[in-house]
Amino acid sequence: MMENQNVPHLVLIPPPFHGHMTPMLQLATILHSKGFSITIAHTHFNSPNPSNYPNFNFLPFFDGLSDTQITSKNFIDIASTLSTNCVTPLKETLIHHMAKLEKLDEKIACIIYDGFFHFIDSLTKELKLPSIVFRTTSATNFLTYHVCAHLQTKGYLPLQDSKSLDLVPELELLRFKDLPIFGLTNPHDFLHSTSKTLSITPLAVIFNTVDGLEDSSLNDLQHLYNVNLFPIGPLHMIANEFDNISILREKDNCISWLNNKPRKSVLYVSLGSIASWEEKELTEMACGLVKSRQNFLWVIRPETVTDVSAWLESLSEDVKLGVVERGCVVKWAPQSEVLAHEAVGGFWSHCGWNSTLESLCEGVPIICQPYFGDQRVNARLLSHVWKVGLEWCNVMERNEIEKVVRRLMVNQEGEVLRKRAIELKHEIRLSLSGSSCDALDGLVKFILSLEG
Ligand code: UDX
Repeated sequence: MMENQNVPHLVLIPPPFHGHMTPMLQLATILHSKGFSITIAHTHFNSPNPSNYPNFNFLPFFDGLSDTQITSKNFIDIASTLSTNCVTPLKETLIHHMAKLEKLDEKIACIIYDGFFHFIDSLTKELKLPSIVFRTTSATNFLTYHVCAHLQTKGYLPLQDSKSLDLVPELELLRFKDLPIFGLTNPHDFLHSTSKTLSITPLAVIFNTVDGLEDSSLNDLQHLYNVNLFPIGPLHMIANEFDNISILREKDNCISWLNNKPRKSVLYVSLGSIASWEEKELTEMACGLVKSRQNFLWVIRPETVTDVSAWLESLSEDVKLGVVERGCVVKWAPQSEVLAHEAVGGFWSHCGWNSTLESLCEGVPIICQPYFGDQRVNARLLSHVWKVGLEWCNVMERNEIEKVVRRLMVNQEGEVLRKRAIELKHEIRLSLSGSSCDALDGLVKFILSLEG
């Protein structure tokens, strides 16, 4: 599209992962509505579809990923390759863009980049461009980076298993086992990249969060960082863009299936866009879900099982029949729409931050099954702090699954969580015209002040 003259230019740089790209595009949509010109600089891998965003400019840059890496979909491997491969191509792309704007007597007002791409910090300093970091995880998760660094200097790391249920002295709402360090194959790499993240001194940090949900962590961060913090969320609600933003498109019509189910009778089961189950776990899940005698809408992404129909065929006759009678299995669902559907009464989730926010916004209680990183922190917030999530043993065995599903969908315990979830939903929605709206106004003013 044509450059908009006399409009402040922003360049937003998301990593090519669904859980990061989606909130960045939501932020871009919001900032565009506030009068900024938006350019999205992105890798070729998992690039957004420009035709979904006719108001934005798109600047692809070379990512140097091999075909093997792309097909492997190994998140950690891809992330670390990008941090090395993208430095020069992104720099050249930005220089070219700056030169183009200069010819129009224009300039980039600010770069907004995902904190996951920490290499961009030195790049923007080199190019003398103001920059703001956008973090797609919770503020509390970001706080754990400081805590982990502190624990390391005090000699607590690597953590002993016996300490895992103890509360973290610096952040008592978490136990040691909730720290994002657990479940990583190489915690040393995590600490290494964390120290890089902490050494960044941005002008400001944007969080996709709500002040009322995370005020204590935001206060602690404000104290530690002494930079402008803008808790603007939930972004998907503010952007109000349910349909246009997904990189992956919905192909299965599960909404009409939901339309025929009674109120609050369906458990929605999904692990986000990265984590996946092993086939034997899927079989236990199918048996457990059927044994629970509850309706379920289940997302099984192709990375988990390439041929879902063949896997379903391999189940025993009674389980197969149960899945057909009670279940709807899809490759991808329009999640926000699903969670907002009145037939949905619970969510079995990996507790990714976007899924967490989407569920909170619709008042849907959660069975927490965190896998790695920030998901553990979010699970603890859901179950222990906000009291809308169910912690369980996370053992993928049919009887345990049957029990936990019934705890949420049938028992009084689930009803209490559901009531609390509805209360929290109202509180969050109030923040849209309250704290989040104020933070957004503050961010707009802050960016405009950079130009002066
Ligand atoms: C990961 C981390 O788990 C997350 O905590 C971090 O903040 C971003 O990276 P991901 O595993 O993708 O993200 O989980 P999540 O943050 O929950 O994002 C998944 C997104 O995909 C959600 O917006 C969800 O609505 C969407 N989704 C998922 C669908 O739209 N349909 C599906 O079938 C599954």
